[in-house]
Amino acid sequence: MLLDALKRPIKDLRISVTDRCNFRCSYCMPLDEYEWINKKEILTFEEIAHLATLFVGLGVEKIRLTGGEPLVRQNLDKLVAKLSAIDGLQDLCLTTNGALLAEKVAALKAAGLKRVNISIDSLDPEKFTRITKRGDLSKVLEGIFAAKKYGLHPIKLNAVIEKGINQDDVLNLVEFSRDHGFAIRFIEYMDVGNSNSWTSEKLVSKKEIIETINSRYPLKEVGRVQGSAPSVDYEFVDGCGDIGVIASVTEPFCPSCTRVRLTADGKLVTCLFSDVGHDVKVLLRGGASDKEITEFLTSIWRMRADRYSAERLEALRSSNYNPKSHKKIEMISLGG
Ligand code: GTP
Ligand code: 5AD
Ligand code: SF4
Ligand code: SF4
Repeated sequence: MLLDALKRPIKDLRISVTDRCNFRCSYCMPLDEYEWINKKEILTFEEIAHLATLFVGLGVEKIRLTGGEPLVRQNLDKLVAKLSAIDGLQDLCLTTNGALLAEKVAALKAAGLKRVNISIDSLDPEKFTRITKRGDLSKVLEGIFAAKKYGLHPIKLNAVIEKGINQDDVLNLVEFSRDHGFAIRFIEYMDVGNSNSWTSEKLVSKKEIIETINSRYPLKEVGRVQGSAPSVDYEFVDGCGDIGVIASVTEPFCPSCTRVRLTADGKLVTCLFSDVGHDVKVLLRGGASDKEITEFLTSIWRMRADRYSAERLEALRSSNYNPKSHKKIEMISLGG
């Protein structure tokens, strides 16, 4: 088994298919313009599927498509079809903002997509647009219900909670999810990228989120479904579904992190908070053999010692954390 320097296997591959997004969420991509990746640098579907096959050969069991917003990439269903056909791949999923889902879900489902995670931070249309800057809540709700209609399952909703912004939306989101059979996960606000103005004062901790929900709908902790999942899950005691909390800041899960990321322009990134990407595309387009590419991927994973969130917590505890002291790759290039 391929293990990194901290004895973690490689199991999950998050593939960003584009750095573009039709939203501008304040916590992720607050600026209007970025240095966008040039079109000719973007990996083709053939190149992505080729690399994905090599990753599965190294132990990857699960692939998630991300962005930016993955559905702004034309014909994404063609990529889903290619990836679904990879022998040995156990799970293929998509993380989306949902705005284009209603129009694309039929083709995605037909191509083999089984499940989807959709971001939704508020059920108040005005607040939703304030947070996402360009988002229309009604389109996202249409996307969520279209996914349900086409039988994608589970449908997980992701809500990033920020103090003073949408902390008061937690119970509404819980009720919406309970009513319609969605699994909602609340995400602690993280200092991703370089421009989201994160401070620890904006954080709503897992503890606070759980207290809010538990006081209205009693919860029972289930834990992490797979040892390496970011989310700690809870069931409602009344049996009406479950929720999760992704607490990267207050309860980091680096010791069990089995995730590797591939950017839209073919860089391998071993942590969400990395400042370096390792160029695989140069090998791919330079005619390297599968053996050579596999050796490259293997050598990068073997050296991996990332534990950024664990280090951040240590620094926060000693009041010694400055999110700007470390330059990171933008979230738009990594898709979470
Ligand atoms: P499931 O397979 O459905 O459990 O999805 P997931 O939670 O792994 O993926 P999703 O794209 O829905 O991500 C939800 C949140 O978890 C996002 O805010 C991600 O940035 C965050 N996340 C996912 N993986 C990691 C990780 O390795 N480290 C950190 N710090 N956050 C992560
Ligand atoms: N903190 C926590 N989660 C974030 N996401 C984007 N930016 C942040 C952040 N700063 C989440 C989105 C989406 C997933 C891909 O990453 O809400 O669900
Ligand atoms: Fe776009 Fe998703 Fe980032 Fe929002 S969180 S700006 S929808 S990539
Ligand atoms: Fe993995 Fe880095 Fe996230 Fe830790 S901070 S869980 S090492 S991606």
